[in-house]
Amino acid sequence: MRLSAAEDRGRFITLEGGEGAGKSTQLARLVDWLRGQGIDPVVTREPGGTPAAERIRGLLLDAAESGLSAEAELLLMFAARADHLARCIEPALDAGRWVVCDRFTDATYAYQGGGRGLERARIAELERFVQRGLQPDLTLILDLPVATGLARARQRSAPDRFEVEDLAFFERVRAAYLAIAERCAERVCLIRADRSEEAVAAEIRACLVARLLAGRQRAGAGAPGLD
Ligand SMILES: Nc1ncnc2c1ncn2[C@@H]1O[C@H](COP(=O)(O)OP(=O)(O)OP(=O)(O)O)[C@@H](O)[C@H]1O
Ligand SMILES: [Mg+2]
Repeated sequence: MRLSAAEDRGRFITLEGGEGAGKSTQLARLVDWLRGQGIDPVVTREPGGTPAAERIRGLLLDAAESGLSAEAELLLMFAARADHLARCIEPALDAGRWVVCDRFTDATYAYQGGGRGLERARIAELERFVQRGLQPDLTLILDLPVATGLARARQRSAPDRFEVEDLAFFERVRAAYLAIAERCAERVCLIRADRSEEAVAAEIRACLVARLLAGRQRAGAGAPGLD
């Protein structure tokens, strides 16, 4: 497997998990480590990742938009995703770049499906329409007790339109993520995130090596290690 040549498609990695699970923290560490392995990924997030999708993100996270229906929320998520795929993710992968994304479609199943109670089949229809078969090569779901995550997230900034939801909402989000980890075990690594940043980061690196990098040889170097 040669990953540096332009004709090779890049790899698509997503980080998922509830509020305050450590996605952004771990994404930054993962990107640093990948760079040390000679891979310079495109780093992006959802909702967002392109100028238009970032504008949709602004609407979706605006606590003042409390009346937005679950259906409108779902469609806005996929509208943002369609633009993000067309103008950022797919061109990057086609050019051989790796893409590391903070949340993706699993978050839609967890929040709009689990949290808001929209039917999974409805989300799957939009997923097929917008992604046309594209799936992440690897998804890291960071799991921790809801209260721990919320306490971390609330320390940080004023709550957005999701963070004002009640505990039961976030318990449903967590349960939906755990169900995805079971259903999609080939694509997903479930990571216990109520541990030190370094312990979580080490497990993420081990997942990457086992799932994506095993057998990869860099010019002049052996297979990458875990440090
Ligand atoms: N393993 C950890 N142990 C303790 N605190 C942590 C850990 N990882 C991250 N944090 C802290 O918890 C807070 C939330 O982390 P981070 O922003 O990475 O989470 P997130 O999953 O991206 O949250 P959000 O869903 O709100 O985007 C930050 O203040 C971060 O420094
Ligand atoms: Mg974050």
